Amino acid sequence: MPRGPWRPLCLCLLLLLLLLHPCAPDGPGAARLGEGAEEPGWASLWPGLQHLQQQLRTAGALSRRYWALFSCRVWPGECEEDEVAATPLGWSLPVLGQQYVDKLAAWYCRFQDCCDSDDCRISNNFTGLDSDLSVRLHGQHLARELVLRTVRGYLETPLPDKALALSFHGWSGTGKNFVARILAENLYRDGQKSPCVRVFIATIHFPHSKYVDLYQDWLLGQMQKAQQRCRQTLFIFDEAEKLHPELLELLRLQLEHRAPEKPDARPQRSIFVFLSNLGGSAINQAVLDLLRAGMSREEITIDHLGPTLQAEMAASPGNSFGHSHLVKENLIDTFVPFLPLEFHHVRLCARDAFLSQDLAYTEETLDRVAQTMTYIPKEEQRFSSQGCKSISQRIHYFQP
Ligand SMILES: *[C@@H]1O[C@H](CO)[C@@H](O)[C@H](O)[C@H]1NC(C)=O
Repeated sequence: MPRGPWRPLCLCLLLLLLLLHPCAPDGPGAARLGEGAEEPGWASLWPGLQHLQQQLRTAGALSRRYWALFSCRVWPGECEEDEVAATPLGWSLPVLGQQYVDKLAAWYCRFQDCCDSDDCRISNNFTGLDSDLSVRLHGQHLARELVLRTVRGYLETPLPDKALALSFHGWSGTGKNFVARILAENLYRDGQKSPCVRVFIATIHFPHSKYVDLYQDWLLGQMQKAQQRCRQTLFIFDEAEKLHPELLELLRLQLEHRAPEKPDARPQRSIFVFLSNLGGSAINQAVLDLLRAGMSREEITIDHLGPTLQAEMAASPGNSFGHSHLVKENLIDTFVPFLPLEFHHVRLCARDAFLSQDLAYTEETLDRVAQTMTYIPKEEQRFSSQGCKSISQRIHYFQP
């Protein structure tokens, strides 16, 4: 948590304010002290100790209350309304105390970004998402439309009854990971580093099938932890085609899960994104056929590719993702095909790489970088076989 270091400091300040501020009310202990004061020796000391204990307890409860008010002021998203509304000892907060909390909150917000409402960690910037998908992503008009439309629709639904599941398909280097990152960056202030976002890579996080029981517990724990921390979570599963069937089964239960019907409960939203190269070759073949038939790339719609993709997934022998209940029971809301990239798209990727590293380039350099990729099919040389993969490393050999 980025604001971690401030918390102890703030707490100390609050306690200090509390000690200087004589607002603890007279408890029942005060009366008892008076009664007992007539008796000599230890017996008279005992009520005094009780009184002290009472005072300390009172101060503790009050500081918790200040703390709750303060955190609601600066982190409204994490604020528990009940915490503030409940007045455990039945007092109202003294006016002076309220002023201290206001001042402290204003001071704190000079260093840290506070938001007027909601959770600062969740940004849901659809303008930014639209702009990144149009400007930074190349050659993927279908992915741009589908991702923006479904994600926006889901996040704007007042009470979604399930998680949203997207499945990205295409060859490597076509931008699946990039789109997942763009999503994280525009939905969360801290992008993929946000506590609300978790990225799982099958071969890194779940490499050995003999440990699948351990992985199940761990994965479930990770997802639940994120969901407790954030009311809107994003889970990205890279290399989804390599996920063990039992992990897929666990995810199926998560996707099916319906929120309990509580009218006043804040909705919990989760987006699952699966990245895989399943159906990549079928997409490429379908696109090639359409282009050969004279259609322009931008005229290709999901209706041209969706059936091909689903048929390919159902047919791919022995693949657990394609055959999983996730896919068979229609738990995936949207299949997003990533088209194979052409020479001019690779040039654009090279240009972006030069720009992002502040390096100079010429039009000729861009051509030369794009020419280092292999293009297929052999006779037509139409699609880059690795898409835009590793372009940002390749550009270093071509500085003018
Ligand atoms: C949303 O993203 C756009 C483009 O990246 C940016 O200019 C804008 O400031 C962002 N808006 C918010 C509220 O962060």
